[in-house]
Amino acid sequence: MNSVAIRKRFLDFFSGRGHAIIKSDSLIPKNDPTLLFTGAGMNQFKENFLGIKKNLNRATSSQKCIRTGDLDVVGTTPYHHSFFEMLGNFSFNDYFKREAIQFAWDFLTCEMKLAKERLFVSVHNEDEEAFEIWTKEIKIPETRIARLGDDSNFWPASVRTLGPNGPCGPCSEIFFDQGDQLYPNSRKHWSQDTSGRFGEIWNLVFTQFNREENGMLSPLGSKNIDTGMGLERLACFVQGKRTNFETDLFEPLIAHLKKQMPDSPSPETLKTVCAIADHARAVVIGISDGAHPTNEGRGYVIRKLIRRAIWKGRTCNMTMPILTPLISTVIQTLSDAYPELNQTEQSVREILNREEQKFSETLDVGLKLLSELTVQALKRKHKTLSGEDVFRLYDTFGFPDELT
Ligand code: SER
Repeated sequence: MNSVAIRKRFLDFFSGRGHAIIKSDSLIPKNDPTLLFTGAGMNQFKENFLGIKKNLNRATSSQKCIRTGDLDVVGTTPYHHSFFEMLGNFSFNDYFKREAIQFAWDFLTCEMKLAKERLFVSVHNEDEEAFEIWTKEIKIPETRIARLGDDSNFWPASVRTLGPNGPCGPCSEIFFDQGDQLYPNSRKHWSQDTSGRFGEIWNLVFTQFNREENGMLSPLGSKNIDTGMGLERLACFVQGKRTNFETDLFEPLIAHLKKQMPDSPSPETLKTVCAIADHARAVVIGISDGAHPTNEGRGYVIRKLIRRAIWKGRTCNMTMPILTPLISTVIQTLSDAYPELNQTEQSVREILNREEQKFSETLDVGLKLLSELTVQALKRKHKTLSGEDVFRLYDTFGFPDELT
């Protein structure tokens, strides 16, 4: 089943169960100063969770998301991204844990036909209700359930200590066992395995608290549900692939990038190719939504992603430009769900092309200077460059300090 069909099956499944299909919000959140980018399906429904808006009881969406917390590992792990699509179903003072768990189970096992015995779950260690539903009603054996603490089973994860303020609650996560054929070296208990064998698919949040200014969690007047499932991961498991980068969402981008390389990629350079494919999606869709490359805020995130991609491309001798030629392929793989991408193609092309050219020139000048400075430093038997030199590279030549 391709990703277009999976996305549609998800929305149709919940629409058939009384959920209004709501269009993805922009990646640039409206009226929400707590966020740089939209990073979850629930963001656009915060006022519904708080009971301020009462226009919906049940909703479902496929939400464009950008998260930068995992940027350094993107490409090196099977499942992490900067841009991803979050499939979600939401209940606002309507159904609660029992229905949310049953819906998720039915969707995965009946619609997506994932084998029941390959599904594992975690619940919050104080959440007896969720544990009982999984064991007594869904009849998952206890050995396939992990009872974990706030770090993994409360959403947002740091909410009790750090915030942010807003709706939150305990959660239950569903994992898919990729099996020992694809991940042969995994020997740990499934809930501690970090090899990627047990891929997290779906997070079911039982949104029953509001974190207030003083850090207190006060019970919400209503019991709500907020779920989020990464389309890329679901596609990976449904399509029987080892990593998200082998699914139809990424495969055309990877094929394109491989053609820009002088040699077939090694396992190491393939990771670089995956990271570039990831960044290409994020910058195309980010610019399309109005996050243009600049030196601060969300514009800087986009600029940084562009620069990382170009730099990574250079390290494997790819032909330049790298990102601009990928624009049409990114749009082809995503425009079914986000048709606005077709309208903005021309302006994305102009902005990205200009940014890419400018940074390539900066790199040429900066790299030459950096190598001269390095030679001088070595002659003086210094093992590091001076702060002054690093600053001059950045300030006068625009060469990013993280590259230096
Ligand atoms: N808000 C939760 C998450 O982002 C579930 O959608 O994981």
